[in-house]
This record gives sequence, C-alpha cells and structure tokens, in this order.
Amino acid sequence: MLRVGVLVSGGGTNLQAILDAVKDGTIRNAEVVYVQSNNPGVYALTRAEKAGVEAEVLSPKSFETRAEYNTALVKKLKEHDLDLIVLAGFLVQIPAEMIRAYRGRIINIHPSLIPSFCGKGFYGLKPHEAALKRGVKVTGATVHIVDEDLDTGPILLQKAVYVEPGDTPQILQRRVMEQAEWILLPKAIDGIANGTIPYGEAAYEKGAES
Ligand code: GAR
Repeated sequence: MLRVGVLVSGGGTNLQAILDAVKDGTIRNAEVVYVQSNNPGVYALTRAEKAGVEAEVLSPKSFETRAEYNTALVKKLKEHDLDLIVLAGFLVQIPAEMIRAYRGRIINIHPSLIPSFCGKGFYGLKPHEAALKRGVKVTGATVHIVDEDLDTGPILLQKAVYVEPGDTPQILQRRVMEQAEWILLPKAIDGIANGTIPYGEAAYEKGAES
C-alpha cells in the first residue's frame, strides 16, 4: 500500500476526487493517510475529516521565520511515513529541503498544459485568465513531479480541454477541473501505486516522461 499525504490550501475538490477514487477502487494499492493545509478553516479539511483521514493545519504565519516553517513541514511529513506527497491546490512554495527529502516523490496538479501559463504567479484562476486573454482554443491540466523550480519537473500526465465561446475564467476553471484535473490526479496516483508511472529517482531517468 502506497502511503499518500495530500497538501491543500482551499476548497479541496482535487482532494475529494482522490478520496472518492480510493473509495471506489479507481486508485488501487494506495491510501490517503494524512492531509495538511496551510490555511485554517478551509473546506478541504472538512472533506478529510468526513473521510476519516487525519488532517491538520500548519501555517507559515505561526512561525517567526520561513526556515522554521520549512523545518516543521518536513518533520510533520516524515512523522507520517509517506511514500508520495500530492500537492492538490497547495499554494505554498515547496522548500528545497522538502524536495531533497522526497526527490521524485512529490507530484502537483497544475491547471494548464505546461509549459503554457505556468510558473510564478500562475495559480488558481490566473492560468485561466491568461489562457482566455491569449485566446488559446485548447487548454487543460498537467500532473508533474515537483522539483526545485516552479512547474518545471518531469511531466507525468496531461489532458486537453477545449475553450468554448463565452467562457469566463470561472467557467473555464470548472471545465478544466471536471474534464481534466479530477481524472488526471487519481490516474497519476494509481499509476504510481501500480508501477505504470515512474516516480522517485526513476521519474528523472531519460525517457521516463511519457
Ligand atoms: C486547482 O485548480 C489546482 O489545479 C490549482 O488550484 C486549484 C485548487 O482547487 N492549483 C494551482 O494553481 C497550482 N499552481 P481545489 O482546492 O478545489 O482542489
């Protein structure tokens, strides 16, 4: 059983997709054992509680320095003996020490087709606003391994979604979630848990990216 920890910041619809997929067998040989949010009071925490998964808040604001938060973050993750860490709408910059501790074992869902509309400042609604502004006809979502820079790690899965006439950033965000994110993230976890998607050091080997 792959022990999965999920880091969240907001509503947690991607977390819900993972929890549902574990329950209905879409994700095999993996369990969500820990959820952590940097924001108190977010609905993602309620979703974890409802599913009977341990959930807690670790906020950078409760620490004097970012270095102290980073150390506490890695310590908490280590305590839970995790095989895989999933960033599901987690909007905190991942510290280098965490990437070192879990090289190739942190994955992120990003709401665009990387390398478009990603990197610094592109989170939440922003990629969708930028996609509409640029006038692209196709966007989508990407699951990738997290490395030292933003949205630059090996790509594991991508799925395209059409932009439709009359889309607002909110409408497009919802379609990308429904048609791509909530499908891709469970698929990536299932693939990792069952050996069809490389992770850890293997994720960086040439040709591992598919
Ligand atoms: C999702 O659209 C996710 O792709 C995005 O935040 C949203 C979280 O929604 N993540 C990023 O923008 C990361 N750069 P959720 O809390 O309902 O899963």
